[in-house]
Amino acid sequence: SGFIEELREKIARLKEKRRAVILAHNYQLPEVQDVADLVGDSLELARAAMETDADVIVFAGVRFMAEMAAALNPDRVVLHPVPEAGCPLADSLAREDVARAREEHPGAPFLVYVNSPLWAKAEADYVVTSASAAKLASILAREGVEKIVFGPDRNLAEYVEEVTGVKTVPVPTRGHCPVHEFLISPYYVRKAREKWGDRAAILVHPEAPRESRRMADFVGSTSQMIRAVAKFRDRSVVLLGTEEGLVYRARRLNPGVRVEPLNPIAVCIDMKKITLQAIADALEKMEPKVRVDPNVARRAREVIEESVRIVT
Ligand code: 13P
Ligand code: SF4
Repeated sequence: SGFIEELREKIARLKEKRRAVILAHNYQLPEVQDVADLVGDSLELARAAMETDADVIVFAGVRFMAEMAAALNPDRVVLHPVPEAGCPLADSLAREDVARAREEHPGAPFLVYVNSPLWAKAEADYVVTSASAAKLASILAREGVEKIVFGPDRNLAEYVEEVTGVKTVPVPTRGHCPVHEFLISPYYVRKAREKWGDRAAILVHPEAPRESRRMADFVGSTSQMIRAVAKFRDRSVVLLGTEEGLVYRARRLNPGVRVEPLNPIAVCIDMKKITLQAIADALEKMEPKVRVDPNVARRAREVIEESVRIVT
């Protein structure tokens, strides 16, 4: 429509004026993905934030992602258009729980999932994403590590243990993403299997419960799921067991493959808070800026950069 077109033009104009880059997560609204310079999973977005030479980063995603971009870019402005867009999983990690787990398991490395507050990244031994967690744990296993402390996602912790054989201590004990825990639950996966049998390929994110993963054909990060779609092109349908926004990009990159959400009501309401209007306003006013404690950010940056280097 004319209104959307005007906003898109305004964003393009301001982006050039500010020398800004727009980074967007795979779950963002389609119209937001369309104005982004890069759309990706958490690991790809972290890499992009490490490599950009833009003056300004507009982060279209949830708060922990924008904070990480700010920590990786102490000399650049990072704008998070809607600061209330948070991640309940990231916010579920408490300092006391981390401290207790580390005390109870001395010597076990602490791997923190990227969906976490910045202080936890600064305190961790490694920062991992759904795309890198198993790889990093298996590298540690080869170095003789038998046990790790992992948080805040319990399902991803169990997945890492299943794939690598490394014992994982989850912190907190039941940390989960509500979207994956309740809306990519075994109930929905079973229903899809009953309907389609093997004619459907079912791809799920590792934040989904164990039983959901067991019934799936593939488990991976959002971008790994998108790349896997082509492998299942001979099936009648490819069902994406994750936040519904992933379907938009998966379809665009795989024309000719029928791609559907496993559950169309699996919506991350926080991801959808970022609108074109909010992006345009942020670029115009150069607010809201992400502000992070410089000492915490410096330590977090070291841990993130080392962790990304190890899995690259
Ligand atoms: P990815 O890193 O796989 O994109 O996942 C981020 C996320 O928030 C999943 O819910
Ligand atoms: Fe957080 Fe879940 Fe939303 Fe991902 S989908 S940002 S883990 S609440």
